[in-house]
Amino acid sequence: MNLKPETLAEIEEAIPKYPEKRSAVMPLLHAIQKDQGLLSNGAAEWVAEKLGMEPINVLSVITFYPFFRQHKIGKRHIRVCRTLSCAMSGGAKVCDRMLSEFDTKLNGISPDGEVTIEFAECLASCGSGPVMLVDDELYENLDEAKAQEICNRIKAEAVQA
Ligand code: FES
Repeated sequence: MNLKPETLAEIEEAIPKYPEKRSAVMPLLHAIQKDQGLLSNGAAEWVAEKLGMEPINVLSVITFYPFFRQHKIGKRHIRVCRTLSCAMSGGAKVCDRMLSEFDTKLNGISPDGEVTIEFAECLASCGSGPVMLVDDELYENLDEAKAQEICNRIKAEAVQA
């Protein structure tokens, strides 16, 4: 697999931190997803060989946790909470505004390649819903106007990049 040198270094550093090599499966998958943007079957096989596991066991981890993905996404990953508190306080409207602003569909990649917008289950900030994550940054107490501001910011950052 064609990983960046810094990813390979991160992997080599992670493995000895665990008493059993197989326990390093999560950090290795995070590192590879960050490097490649997704976790292919080839990545699962590579990790399995590295950690002395069966590929099916690595694939089980990948498919169990919602933060691992096997498909490509846009440059920015937006996850809007759809669980009860956020749903009742307007999460769907926030999501619709984001989708319309980027002219995309749920789980797709926007035509400019900038974003993928998905629903997420509870993001553990129920008292300040609706909430969403843009990459690793949490935005709370959202409404359509705040969603619009976030869209504008993402677009401005894309132009600067
Ligand atoms: S319900 Fe949205 S953060 Fe918990």
